[in-house]
Amino acid sequence: MEILKTINDAQEYVLNQRRNGLKIGFVPTMGALHQGHISLVEKSTTQNDITIVSIFVNPTQFNNAADLEKYPRTIDADCKMLEAAGCNMVFTPDEKEMYPQKDERVFSFNGLESCLEGEFRPGHFNGVAQIVSKLFFAIPAHNAYFGQKDFQQLAVIKQLVLQLDIPVNIIPCPTIRESDGLAMSSRNLRLTPEHRSNSTFIYKMLQKTVELAKANNPTLIKEIIISEFNKNKLLKLEYFDIVDNTYLQQTDFFQKDTIYIACVAVWAGDVRLIDNIQIN
Ligand code: PAF
Repeated sequence: MEILKTINDAQEYVLNQRRNGLKIGFVPTMGALHQGHISLVEKSTTQNDITIVSIFVNPTQFNNAADLEKYPRTIDADCKMLEAAGCNMVFTPDEKEMYPQKDERVFSFNGLESCLEGEFRPGHFNGVAQIVSKLFFAIPAHNAYFGQKDFQQLAVIKQLVLQLDIPVNIIPCPTIRESDGLAMSSRNLRLTPEHRSNSTFIYKMLQKTVELAKANNPTLIKEIIISEFNKNKLLKLEYFDIVDNTYLQQTDFFQKDTIYIACVAVWAGDVRLIDNIQIN
């Protein structure tokens, strides 16, 4: 497995493989890899000849300096996992390489970027769009893999690719969960044992939402689930919403032929966790 640090080297590597007629799959990450990331890498290895993973903790998508500082960095362990999973090249640029000067670009995605996560993390999706557009330039892949745990990010990246005419297929991949239902996340590493065992409550509430949706409207479901969260002394709910999966608009009634997603963000101590589930 090769490890490359500059955009020039990475691009040259990819273009060489493409000239040889090989298909390239790309998994962008911020490291602190877990089985969720590895499932993306494995999917890429089955659909492409060459799989590339980037590891870069992108400062422009953190709206909280402490969160950026505390973000786990486990590069040696990450590389071992990637080699075992069949990754061919890891791109690990530093900040100067990705941002030789301040990125002043401001993206607009018809409101997709300002609801849900965007409301609580202003500027977050602009930072994601900045780095992902740079990464797609450095790694001109055929296919790029993103987890559905970050379903809003996925919606934003699909729009980014359309707006900038980037010739890459965006492949959504299912959320991978721990055996007790907690969605895998690099942030789980920072949970205290007490918060870790309590955070299974999040997925239980999402499953309850699916059950409730069989006979209730979104407004009532929200009331019930929010009051359940409020009874949990260890988790602090930031939002719970039910939105359609295209425009991410909240709804008072379920419409036939529309897919709805229940999405949630909570604080477990000083760790912020997000999750979602498709309702129908
Ligand atoms: O999902 C992530 O890990 C990051 O948001 C991404 C897509 C790698 C951009 O920094």
